Amino acid sequence: METTRVRLRFLPHPHVYGIILPINLMQQLQLRPRQRITITLGKKEAVAVVLNDKRNPDSNVVKITSLLQDELSIPHGGLINLKREGETLRIGPAIGIVTTGVRRDPRNPIGPRTSFFQKLLQAQEGKGVFYYIFSPHDVDWSKNEVVAWFLRKGKNGSYVWRKMKTAMPDVIYDRVPSRSAEKHEAVRDFKYKLANYPNTPMFNQGFFNKWGVHQLLYPNPEVNEHIPETYTSPSLQTVRNLIKKYPIVYLKPKNGSLGYGIVKVVRSGGGYDVSYHNGSGNVKRHFTKLSALYQHIFRSRRVSSYLAQQGISLMTYQGRPFDFRVHLHKNQLNQWVVSCTAAKVAGSGSVTTHVRTGGTVIPGDELLQHLFGRQKAMMVERISDASIRLATAIEMAKGIDLGELGLDMGIDTHGHVWMFEANSKPGRSIFKHARLKQADYESRKLLVDYSCYLANF
Ligand SMILES: Nc1ncnc2c1ncn2[C@@H]1O[C@H](COP(=O)(O)OP(=O)(O)O)[C@@H](O)[C@H]1O
Ligand SMILES: [Mg+2]
Repeated sequence: METTRVRLRFLPHPHVYGIILPINLMQQLQLRPRQRITITLGKKEAVAVVLNDKRNPDSNVVKITSLLQDELSIPHGGLINLKREGETLRIGPAIGIVTTGVRRDPRNPIGPRTSFFQKLLQAQEGKGVFYYIFSPHDVDWSKNEVVAWFLRKGKNGSYVWRKMKTAMPDVIYDRVPSRSAEKHEAVRDFKYKLANYPNTPMFNQGFFNKWGVHQLLYPNPEVNEHIPETYTSPSLQTVRNLIKKYPIVYLKPKNGSLGYGIVKVVRSGGGYDVSYHNGSGNVKRHFTKLSALYQHIFRSRRVSSYLAQQGISLMTYQGRPFDFRVHLHKNQLNQWVVSCTAAKVAGSGSVTTHVRTGGTVIPGDELLQHLFGRQKAMMVERISDASIRLATAIEMAKGIDLGELGLDMGIDTHGHVWMFEANSKPGRSIFKHARLKQADYESRKLLVDYSCYLANF
């Protein structure tokens, strides 16, 4: 049955488990006065009696008695969705974001990441959802409850964080911040228990590693034209074969991020140029022998944690290579959409396009307009089309629910589109750009939309 959006209020009443609605809403939800029905919020349920609100026949207000509110741990009133599913009336959806580093301080409940989560929760405006942050420590599995942080508007319109007990959610967005946090006992225990918990999807679980993604996509004819040739734990011979075949080779850590550990090798003057960022600046060295180069690189880096990859000769803008961060989401219809395409232009001498190493972010269509003029639309479409095919292929191959992806995409000097990396926990730094604010908001709203889809609302 369809979802109905209503205003929820509470009626102080210590003795009756009751839900009071005007007759028109009752009819929409196929309810009869005085009938009993199971009401759920997330994973909590209670039986209540349905009562007719005779005094406000035309309103869109649903009242719940305080006894029922307590029983279901309904955190707040306001705009919310109701859905009849068989013999059950669902209130919700309840959407929980799970992370670690959650604190008691109401000014900074998620420490330095508080503003990141505040922006995510702000996107609930007008959606009629219960949206909250919790940590694996905060779950009471025996009661199907969780203690969570909610973002509420205070009297003067400013936001305040409030900690409240509520029901285990209908759907969970995994925002555990790092691979190391994933290894914590509490996180592992939480994920293990959730896997055996009824009917609670969690999307964007875990982190991808570059080799795993490569293995999934390279054999797939739908997308394989976008995937550079790649080898794991590359021997000297592997690197030699690659640099014979391609003028550029990239060496990168399988679990790397932000460009850390990335090395670029370029054939040059009968020898090889090597460049990388060493923490304080860009380093460039020339080697005549590949074996000396290999030794130099892997003296301080573990070969087994590295990949060797066909280097792509990136297109340049004002003399500097650039690529794109394409931010994709699933919408409420479970379809992939591009929420943002940001161009990242490499800093001078940098082997990657990260802002950390001097790179700059420009809205993708602005850069494409400069370079391609009238043919901009064609390039935008080429990148979006490849990104959506890649996202679809990743989700299919992984077999997990994915609501969001950040793809690092490049265009080579012939105009061909390549994918360097797929991020399951994409950062949001591109959205700091003044002209990407609308895309930022869209992206955060899409997270709510996809959650509603997964929650079956
Ligand atoms: N095979 C490649 N050819 C050309 N440039 C590459 C290649 N691989 C990576 N890069 C550059 O390095 C950047 C970072 O690489 P990526 O694989 O995304 O690693 P990280 O996890 O560190 O972000 C890319 O955005 C791109 O600019
Ligand atoms: Mg990257």
